[in-house]
Amino acid sequence: MDENFEKTAKFILQTIDYQPEVGIILGSGLGGLGNRISDATIIPYSSIPNFPISTVEGHNGNLILGELGGKKVVAMQGRFHFYEGYGMDKVTYPVRVMKFLGVKTLIVSNAAGGLNPKYATGDIMFIKDHINHFPVNPLMGANFDELGPRFPDMSKVYCQNLLKKAKKIAKKLNLKVRKGIYIGSSGPTLETPAEYALFRKMGADATGMSTVPEAIVAHHMGIKVFGMSVITNGSAPVDPNGETTHDEVQNVAGAVEPKMTLLITKLLEKI
Ligand code: HPA
Repeated sequence: MDENFEKTAKFILQTIDYQPEVGIILGSGLGGLGNRISDATIIPYSSIPNFPISTVEGHNGNLILGELGGKKVVAMQGRFHFYEGYGMDKVTYPVRVMKFLGVKTLIVSNAAGGLNPKYATGDIMFIKDHINHFPVNPLMGANFDELGPRFPDMSKVYCQNLLKKAKKIAKKLNLKVRKGIYIGSSGPTLETPAEYALFRKMGADATGMSTVPEAIVAHHMGIKVFGMSVITNGSAPVDPNGETTHDEVQNVAGAVEPKMTLLITKLLEKI
């Protein structure tokens, strides 16, 4: 096993006097939740041994430890993407470290393109399953037998119980949410109309460039996963003339962020 996981975790744990039980990964334009964490210890990624450094606009690059919804949490304000040129070991490194911090549940968020014709920009989709459309799998290479099996079962990556709880919370808050399948690809290109159409045929409801690797690695280690997408743009034929810019993605995500933060905070109270 890579001993650096443990070393990095030790470095982080020496800055606090508790162990976080929930990990949170904040997607593009969704970093605002980080500012709601109380008694926060903020550690820039650049000061964490062995951590990669985030390069994308809109990703702040801080680890924030503290309390939210009555739970001790560790949140990533900014994540590492495959399209930035990081290998999957780097993309998923923080999730491995979370295991050594004591994390039992991972809440992962992203901005995504809508594929399902019923979806609209600004919708929130709870992820019920995913399609790994990255060219590689993050578990390729030597298996960390101490952390999880060589051939992990993938029938229940997204915790059914957390999904049920989140649905109930959304209903109580009178928030309309979707439940769908997320397809993850490398990016950085957005999809051509033909690719959007293909992904729709494959059965996906939303498309993005993240989440799948982190969910796989968390599941490999027995961490429960809850995933959530904010639909920031449509795709043909829903939005036939739609061109999508990164600014648009961030603006829509930013506008929905308070709703997502509320949902996550309430979910944390119920974990
Ligand atoms: N495709 C891929 N990733 C994305 C999209 C999209 O349309 N929107 C936000 N992230």
